Amino acid sequence: MPTIYFFRCMLLLIVISLVNRSSAERVNSSGGMVWSTARDEAELVEDSGVVIGEQDQIDGGFSSLDGMLHWAIGHSDPATLKEAAHDAKKMSLDELQKRQLELKELVEKLKMPSDAKLMQIAIDDLNNSSLSLEDRHRALQELLILVEPIDNANDLSKSGGLRVVAGELNHSDVDVRKLAAWVLGKASQNNPFVQEQVLELGALTTLIKMVNSSSTEEAGKALFAVSAMIRNNVAGQDMFYAAHGYIMLQDVMSNESLDIKLRRKAVFLVGDLAECQLQNTEKAELPIFNDRLFLKSVVDLIVVLDLDLQEKALEAIKTLLQLKSVEPLILRDFCGLEGSLKRMKMQLEESMADENMRDYAADVESLRGEVELIFRQKLGHL
Ligand SMILES: *[C@@H]1O[C@H](CO)[C@@H](O)[C@H](O)[C@H]1NC(C)=O
Ligand SMILES: *[C@@H]1O[C@H](CO)[C@@H](O)[C@H](O)[C@H]1NC(C)=O
Ligand SMILES: *[C@@H]1O[C@H](CO)[C@@H](O)[C@H](O)[C@H]1NC(C)=O
Ligand SMILES: *[C@@H]1O[C@H](CO)[C@@H](O)[C@H](O)[C@H]1NC(C)=O
Ligand SMILES: *[C@@H]1O[C@H](CO)[C@@H](O)[C@H](O)[C@H]1NC(C)=O
Ligand SMILES: *[C@@H]1O[C@H](CO)[C@@H](O)[C@H](O)[C@H]1NC(C)=O
Repeated sequence: MPTIYFFRCMLLLIVISLVNRSSAERVNSSGGMVWSTARDEAELVEDSGVVIGEQDQIDGGFSSLDGMLHWAIGHSDPATLKEAAHDAKKMSLDELQKRQLELKELVEKLKMPSDAKLMQIAIDDLNNSSLSLEDRHRALQELLILVEPIDNANDLSKSGGLRVVAGELNHSDVDVRKLAAWVLGKASQNNPFVQEQVLELGALTTLIKMVNSSSTEEAGKALFAVSAMIRNNVAGQDMFYAAHGYIMLQDVMSNESLDIKLRRKAVFLVGDLAECQLQNTEKAELPIFNDRLFLKSVVDLIVVLDLDLQEKALEAIKTLLQLKSVEPLILRDFCGLEGSLKRMKMQLEESMADENMRDYAADVESLRGEVELIFRQKLGHL
């Protein structure tokens, strides 16, 4: 069964490498291919964009075809692929289109199973308690790709598949838990219908606890899933609050021994929650926004020496400053925002002297200045 899927990916791969410029560009002109796997790609997206992957937001996510391409590359014989890609480059557009049509017919003739069928196979596998661990991982990895198109995510929800995946969050194997969280996150991303279903399954509480995992990867995927489930979802955010999700965020932000990427994800989510609050003026502000310890854990991040983290913390503060419940005096007296902004200015000046960091540091400095100004204005109005 996974072989059918694999075969389908191979065909897709050829089709894509024939028609998709962006993937053709991955082919090194000297004939070498730039290999990467679906996982690397997704990691990149999530790491750069942190919570949901800003990149996913901007270009609508790496398309499912591209995801499949990478998946197929990661699982196939490099020599064959190299040849296919090499041949493709020599063809004219007409030839490419002709070849694409032929392949399409071939796919139809071979009666490749639909995505819905493939998802059902993966779910039936997962629902079988005697399935080997290896096959369980594979089933989840396939779902990871299959749930990217929004219709597939909806189908998975309707067929009861999400419940099966959510059940895997309690598995004893760390990779199963991690993959299950990732699938739920992917399926929920920008999809209010799936968000609601996953929230109803009670997965949020489990995921919030999972962020405490000693496995960095598990914690990262769990936080990704939490963010995807509550983003722009007021009901989800209320549940998040009720499940003490803000304490989890606070713990992550203030724990210096944690992975820096996890801390970036956490502060990005804070900014996101504040932004959502700003957009929904009729909704009562979440009590976390006047929790001084919570605010301090955000402010403290602006002097941690990591430009990306600092930038995200500043963005969050900039949005927080626009909320009614965030009191400027608490930011000044309890959180020490003024002092931290000054310290940050000095740090950034040093960074700007470093050629490699100059531009980035200058951007962050400009944002810092903006935050300082807004803060002063807010204090001045008292
Ligand atoms: C392409 O291949 C050449 C020579 O093999 C290498 O120097 C170059 O870095 C490669 N480019 C990319 C983008 O990998
Ligand atoms: C469950 O998995 C085992 C081991 O792979 C297999 O032998 C069995 O037929 C499966 N059961 C069902 C109902 O598919
Ligand atoms: C999973 O298996 C149980 C029986 O063991 C069955 O009742 C349930 O419908 C199955 N779930 C799905 C989504 O196939
Ligand atoms: C995981 O197990 C706990 C208790 O054992 C349960 O409360 C929770 O609902 C389960 N989570 C999921 C998503 O099934
Ligand atoms: C995470 O672990 C810390 C320290 O072990 C504990 O205080 C906290 O309650 C845990 N959080 C969750 C959500 O389980
Ligand atoms: C910080 O994170 C480390 C590594 O996960 C953990 O062992 C430690 O308990 C955490 N510290 C606090 C205060 O939660």
